[in-house]
Amino acid sequence: MKILFLNGPNLNLLGTREPDKYGLQTLKDIENYIKEEASKLNIETDFYQSNIEGEIVNKIQEAKGIYNGIVMNPAAYTHTSVAIRDALLAVEIPTVEIHLSNIHKREEFRKNSLTAPACIGQITGFGANSYKLGLIAIYDFLKK
Ligand code: DQA
Repeated sequence: MKILFLNGPNLNLLGTREPDKYGLQTLKDIENYIKEEASKLNIETDFYQSNIEGEIVNKIQEAKGIYNGIVMNPAAYTHTSVAIRDALLAVEIPTVEIHLSNIHKREEFRKNSLTAPACIGQITGFGANSYKLGLIAIYDFLKK
């Protein structure tokens, strides 16, 4: 099983970016932890981060035929990106949306996700553990 972890804008700054909301772990720390957990389940993972919407769309399109599933934190694009939503619908790769913070507990504009309706479901508010829960969710979904 091969899973792509997709990360949107500003997640490259994890560790120093608003740590009260997003924690102290860097994206590399999270990646290392996920790779360790995934290998126990015999899952291969790749991590990708971009600040550019079109690059994320390209990555989703290229994922077809390579990855069995996607775990995605679209970051700010969650709330704005019709293009990412459409790309997910186009490739039909099972996807779990994740967020470090609980987007439903924050500003009004964060409560709506344009991307979640193109996903199996959403995990939000568990800090870096959202990545681990996302891994388990996609694994359980795919192994059925
Ligand atoms: C986020 C929540 C988004 O609203 C925000 O724009 C982010 C991070 C999260 O993981 O909590 O960049 O996706």
